[in-house]
Amino acid sequence: MRIDIVTLFPEIASAPLSDSIIQRARNADVAEVVVHQLRDWSTDKHRRVDDTLCGGGPGMLLKPQPLFAAVESLRKPETLVILMTPQGKRLEQSVVRDLSKREHLLILCGHYEGVDHRVVEALVDLELSIGDYVLTNGAIAAAVVCDAVIRLLPGALGDDQSSIDESFTNPKLLEAPAYTKPAEFQGMSVPEVLLSGNHAKISAWKKAQAEARTRQNRPDLLD
Ligand code: ADE
Repeated sequence: MRIDIVTLFPEIASAPLSDSIIQRARNADVAEVVVHQLRDWSTDKHRRVDDTLCGGGPGMLLKPQPLFAAVESLRKPETLVILMTPQGKRLEQSVVRDLSKREHLLILCGHYEGVDHRVVEALVDLELSIGDYVLTNGAIAAAVVCDAVIRLLPGALGDDQSSIDESFTNPKLLEAPAYTKPAEFQGMSVPEVLLSGNHAKISAWKKAQAEARTRQNRPDLLD
């Protein structure tokens, strides 16, 4: 898979994708990620990419020209063009899974008050939000999407099973609590059943714990 990110803050988008599992996946050609500076497509002599709002209002908006030029130079027939915006569809594991099946993602990052709506209408296939809160810019959100997608690609995780047995995968439950050694720490014990070696019992315990945790922390998932 190839992912292109277009942003005013390439360092912010790049940093979380340049270490650990994701960097290893990139080194192994599981995913190719290229981060671009939006200003490089501006035809303005001062490389400006923003302007004031038509009809008035506070703040600035990204102008259409640099974004149209960026998409026109990076888009291929198989490309899915995504705009990161708090007005988008909310990112969930099911969306991540769909994205992980695409060949090419082109992610545009909003900034200031957002982007001129002609960009959305003419260029964007999917407006995406990472949650119901507002970040200072979309580069952080783009890195979140890339991390979640790349870890699902074949070869990204050492043990492919770890992307299957996890929260939000079928059925939609949070993961059960997990423990490592030592069996006793500061008077707190690992639950007996996990040390029993009885796999049927362990599975049943994990399922009950997952349901209880989901009921407590995310009852909306059970609706
Ligand atoms: N840009 C600012 N806030 C955002 C959010 N919650 N999701 C995606 N892009 C954003």
